Amino acid sequence: MSVKFSGKHLANFIRPEEYDAIFPQVEVAHKQLEDRSGPGNDFLGWMDLPVNYDKEEFARIKEAAAKIREDSDVLLVAGIGGSYLGARAVVEAVKGQFHNDVEDGLKIYFCGNTISPTYLNDIIKVTKGKRFSINVISKSGTTTETALAFRVLRKLLEDSVGPEEANKRIYATTDRARGTLKQLADAQGWPTFVVPDDVGGRFSVLTAVGLLPIACAGIDIDELMAGAAEGRAKYSVLSKDNDAYRYAMTRNILYRKGKSVETLACFEPDFTMMNEWYKQLFGESEGKDQKGLMPTSCIFSTDLHSMGQFLQDGNRVMFETYVDIKNTREDYFIPAIEGNFDGLNFLADQNMSIVNRKAMEGTILAHNDGGVPIGVIEVDSLNARDVGELIYFFWKACAVSGYLLAVNPFDQPGVESYKKNMFALLGKPGYEAQKAALEEKLNG
Ligand code: PA5
Repeated sequence: MSVKFSGKHLANFIRPEEYDAIFPQVEVAHKQLEDRSGPGNDFLGWMDLPVNYDKEEFARIKEAAAKIREDSDVLLVAGIGGSYLGARAVVEAVKGQFHNDVEDGLKIYFCGNTISPTYLNDIIKVTKGKRFSINVISKSGTTTETALAFRVLRKLLEDSVGPEEANKRIYATTDRARGTLKQLADAQGWPTFVVPDDVGGRFSVLTAVGLLPIACAGIDIDELMAGAAEGRAKYSVLSKDNDAYRYAMTRNILYRKGKSVETLACFEPDFTMMNEWYKQLFGESEGKDQKGLMPTSCIFSTDLHSMGQFLQDGNRVMFETYVDIKNTREDYFIPAIEGNFDGLNFLADQNMSIVNRKAMEGTILAHNDGGVPIGVIEVDSLNARDVGELIYFFWKACAVSGYLLAVNPFDQPGVESYKKNMFALLGKPGYEAQKAALEEKLNG
């Protein structure tokens, strides 16, 4: 079993009867998902994605990835939110945070996820003297951060190789039929890939949105999909022992007991972007109608030296969920040193993964003693197959968790507010009335 939820460290906080009491609501949520009758039911395409996907497009993704790996030194992936996080999360979980530095061949950089001119200039610098391709990813085709970066990078590419060759090096992942990006791609003859209508951004990593950059990183996308398919089979069973449902129930029970924050913690830095992906998944799915657990994350032991004090001893608003990776991608044997000048010979003659594990176990026990409920998601490894299963585990838990909270887990109306203000303040035509009102607020 590659992914499993353990409630061992929840025993002092949740009684077994509490799971019994909430389970009927899980049954309703399960049924709503299975028969597509719940809120947001037009965005359930993710449920069958691991088994029901466009095989012809999947083959084209592999071909495009092979071509990019062959004819480019650098791939720039422009996208934000759901059109960014999943791809980067999987690439770094499977290949590591230093994949660009330690592997020969194609380097992959993510951009279009910020309006920082410094970031954009640095991205421009990494293309200097390099053969590069662009994968622009935007379902709407109009997202400011992505579109702004893309207009600059497209020009850079055209200036570097000429418009005709540039058209062969721009890959657009967008809506099947609508939007500015789709129209532009068709007009220019760029290879295009589809964000399915019924799949929202945060559920899109197993579509071309994630699969093309992931395949470009040299990751076996068949394995990723196979793992997700295993997850789909496991987490579609209506049972109290369904690990995704157990995790969803745990979150909801603790929420009802007054916890307002979940901290996803992992002792593996390669999980950093998976943490970010989790935050978008749960934050956008549950944070609405003035409800929801606020998703936060830590990488330990790094953050034990920053957030550790608060988690041990601060306001008891949170519970923690640890992602315990059973087998690390690499290990390191710690040798004894003569003289023991640093006093660390007590750690010698064993693998560093053991030291990291003991740090995790010690932290769990300490935080538990400090009054923090702790659930543990056990994962065999961060290989493509296990990450695929983990993705499906989180998706299913998130969907059920959202229904338990009585929100629509598949929309995100709140993200529009900042955009409206930004457009008004920048003087976008049509926003004149709001501009004056906002400036009045800003300037007092
Ligand atoms: O989850 C979401 O819907 C968002 O995070 C979007 O993915 C994000 O805003 C990017 O949108 P688009 O793909 O339309 O550029």
